[in-house]
Amino acid sequence: MPHNYYTGEMAEIKIDGKVHELPVIVGTEGEKAIDIRSLRAKSGYIAFDGGYANTGSCISNITYLDGESGILSYRGYDIAELAENCSFVEVAYLLDHGSLPTRTELNAFSQMLNDFAMVHEDMIRFFDSYPAKSPPMAILSSMVNSLCSFYPEMANNPLENIDKMSARLLSKVRTIAAFSYKKSMGHPVVYPRHDLSYCANFLNMMFDSPVRPYEINHKVVEALNKLLILHADHEQNCSTSTVRMVGSARVNLYASVSAGISALWGPLHGGANQAVMDMLASIHENGGDYRKYVERAKDPKDPFRLAGFGHRVYKTYDPRCRIIKQACDEVLADLKYSDPLLDLAKDLEEVALKDDYFIERNLYPNVDFYSGIIYRAMGIPTNMFTVMFALGRLPGWIAHWKEMWDDPAWRISRPRQIYVGPLSRPFVPIDQRG
Ligand code: SDX
Repeated sequence: MPHNYYTGEMAEIKIDGKVHELPVIVGTEGEKAIDIRSLRAKSGYIAFDGGYANTGSCISNITYLDGESGILSYRGYDIAELAENCSFVEVAYLLDHGSLPTRTELNAFSQMLNDFAMVHEDMIRFFDSYPAKSPPMAILSSMVNSLCSFYPEMANNPLENIDKMSARLLSKVRTIAAFSYKKSMGHPVVYPRHDLSYCANFLNMMFDSPVRPYEINHKVVEALNKLLILHADHEQNCSTSTVRMVGSARVNLYASVSAGISALWGPLHGGANQAVMDMLASIHENGGDYRKYVERAKDPKDPFRLAGFGHRVYKTYDPRCRIIKQACDEVLADLKYSDPLLDLAKDLEEVALKDDYFIERNLYPNVDFYSGIIYRAMGIPTNMFTVMFALGRLPGWIAHWKEMWDDPAWRISRPRQIYVGPLSRPFVPIDQRG
């Protein structure tokens, strides 16, 4: 039974001497909102909320996020339980279909992912046209958009083929990511194997080579599953909202996700995992004085911000960061790999969390603060870290795109604005302009 989120309660807004009533919405976890869709018609006013920090763009069944309590769940399952007990493919199925798969459903889904793992040979030739130092996120965004050209039937009849389209995207993005790495190294691509799991296949495509066969480490595969699960969705973050915004114009899934990849690229968003590693490496190379960087981050005159710290919604420790930080110790111990940047990250966190500047602003480490340490231990290059974030976030983007397309109340997204430019003025021909 779908949740009836209108409670009958009304909010009142008094303006220009009139009182207008607006309905109240309450979600299954008690989140409250005022439905202002009739505000302009009733009062002539619009609401203003630059950055949308106080604005809900949709009603969603997918992910619940409580930033004050540090709670994150996908379709009602806490992420700690999913990260501990599931594979990434299971969680992708959960996000896409709304329930955890039976073994039969999981096997069928895994078979589809396997069947769609290859990339059209003509697409592989695209890689030869990119300059060697092309940003991997630029390649990923354009390659995903190019899927519309190679699979037009999918792009043109979205809902008829939605399961195939989702599986095709999930599987091919993994292959494209690995191929882009091999091409950037000037090495031959390694094709996906039917006998490997989703994450093992990715690692094998990344690191197997004719001269040095890649030895699959099941602890590393387990850690990668955990990382991708923790990145799989995060309600209306910038990139997911972008996928919804673009998709709301009835744009197909591939092009909508391509736009989401571009949004994720930003250093304030998914690009932060690369920025964290660059920051830690810079501190390490400059003598390790992390306290100096904490002071810089506090200086309003200094544009430097502590990468991997702070969050629009979490005003407590990011629950994903807690799990990733623990996984860092486990993976590095398994690999008998020590990383001075991990010790530096922990020192930085300890100093910042005791500093009034960070305490007063509720600034904590977020999902990006430790994830790069594990990716680096796996051998993944820093410039691929945000690609890894995109790989993890794909199921969330797909689920939100589908939810929007399935929504009978769906409308094209088109925010309003308040104009503060010049008042009306007469045109002046160019020869009379002073
Ligand atoms: C992700 O939205 C999501 O869900 C995103 C994400 C997901 O899974 O999709 O969780 C993934 O993008 C995580 C965030 C990754 N980005 C970073 O780590 C970049 C560093 N963080 C900041 O740029 C910032 O914290 C943001 C962008 C994450 C949030 O920005 P907000 O919500 O707009 O907060 P703000 O800039 O208004 O900051 C409030 C105050 C300001 O100080 P005052 O003006 O009040 O004096 O906190 C300060 C900021 O200067 N501040 C920081 C800081 N982050 C905020 N000061 C120093 N270092 C920081 N990192």
